[in-house]
Amino acid sequence: MIQLSYSDGESDLLSVETIQQIEDIKTKMYRKESAGSDFLGWLDFPSSFDPHLLQDIQQTADTIKKQSDVLVVIGIGGSYLGARAVIEALQPYFQKAGVEVLYAGHQVSGAYLKELLEYIDQKDVSINVISKSGTTTEPAVAFRFLQQYMEKRYGDEASSRIFATTDENKGALLTVAREKGYKRFVVPDDVGGRYSVFTPVGLLPIAVAGININNVLHGAQTAEKELYELDVEYNPAIRYALLRNHLYEAGKTNEIFASFEPKLHYIQEWWKQLFGESEGKDGKGILPLSVSYTTDLHSLGQYIQDGKRNLFETFLNVEEVDEDLEMFEADSDEDQLNYLAGLSLHEFNKKAYEGTAQAHQDGSVPIITLTLPKLDDYHVGYLLYFYMLSCAYSGYMLDVNPFDQPGVEAYKKNIFKLLKKPGY
Ligand code: PA5
Repeated sequence: MIQLSYSDGESDLLSVETIQQIEDIKTKMYRKESAGSDFLGWLDFPSSFDPHLLQDIQQTADTIKKQSDVLVVIGIGGSYLGARAVIEALQPYFQKAGVEVLYAGHQVSGAYLKELLEYIDQKDVSINVISKSGTTTEPAVAFRFLQQYMEKRYGDEASSRIFATTDENKGALLTVAREKGYKRFVVPDDVGGRYSVFTPVGLLPIAVAGININNVLHGAQTAEKELYELDVEYNPAIRYALLRNHLYEAGKTNEIFASFEPKLHYIQEWWKQLFGESEGKDGKGILPLSVSYTTDLHSLGQYIQDGKRNLFETFLNVEEVDEDLEMFEADSDEDQLNYLAGLSLHEFNKKAYEGTAQAHQDGSVPIITLTLPKLDDYHVGYLLYFYMLSCAYSGYMLDVNPFDQPGVEAYKKNIFKLLKKPGY
């Protein structure tokens, strides 16, 4: 389903000891006996998805679609990136049909929030506020403004336009949601933010955007099954994890996720969070970076070709596209592009990939290439599950707990102290 190739060959990677190490990781992980096992709920979430919950998500999405022009998704990190990654990968660039999905609470810009409030004033609005802890400051600040706006504008009707996705038993958001009678969805206890795209955290906004969540889930279910069953040497999720760790040990401490498809931009953002928060701890971990080609060939391309040799590059290519343009022969060839006549822009990008990968390889950048057959709901579901599983294997190979993020507390404490939050 996902093809993986590697520029330097993998024959020496699969020693008897390595295969044994992977088998041990796999056994412990699927038995939920490994580090962070309290957060392994995502592993079989797609296949064990409760059909009533799926129906509830779809019906709620239909209600939101009927009553709104705009859905504002309030959340940060894992509470919004999964939905945004899927939505932006699958929606058209310009002519977006149906409900417009906007985001808030992923930063604290007064100008952004003010302009958002002005913009939505011309539209019918619903809100999906998402926070597993229910206490994260950035979304809480945005929600305070948007809740006040909704109550002023809609009165009692506001509570039927606000949807809360949070913990089942605790947190300030749960208290507010109960008090106001908002429709609620639960973030499962055993699923962390960055692994939550296939729970209501991701699926409700994705469904509101008009994307078929059954197909997204079906892709994830197929990935869950295939990537469990496939032997190590044929399993792209395990091979990707193995290669990353092999390269890391060889001093390649930066991974650049490169793509020629602009719609993958938020999948790159989601991937950075997934791998960065899962592996960057205990003084270890690959720094995940991303570039969008060919745009960044005219900016970071120089560094990648010729700068410090502590990086490797992972391309994500999409094999087949629905929409494309073909270069044509112009009457006058003043721009000297007639040599491209008959070539589609997708084919141009395939050549651009080949040329770029070869150049970077010649510049001593190891190249991993992942190929996704198509950019559609099913394959995006497959892809995101693939990355989550690979990240878990990779974190365990690195000997870290891939499911905690103790490091993100340090900046919060400082901000709270500076803002004189009671108790700090
Ligand atoms: O992946 C994670 O756990 C984090 O990125 C969280 O999703 C993020 O910090 C938001 O947390 P919460 O959903 O509790 O508001």
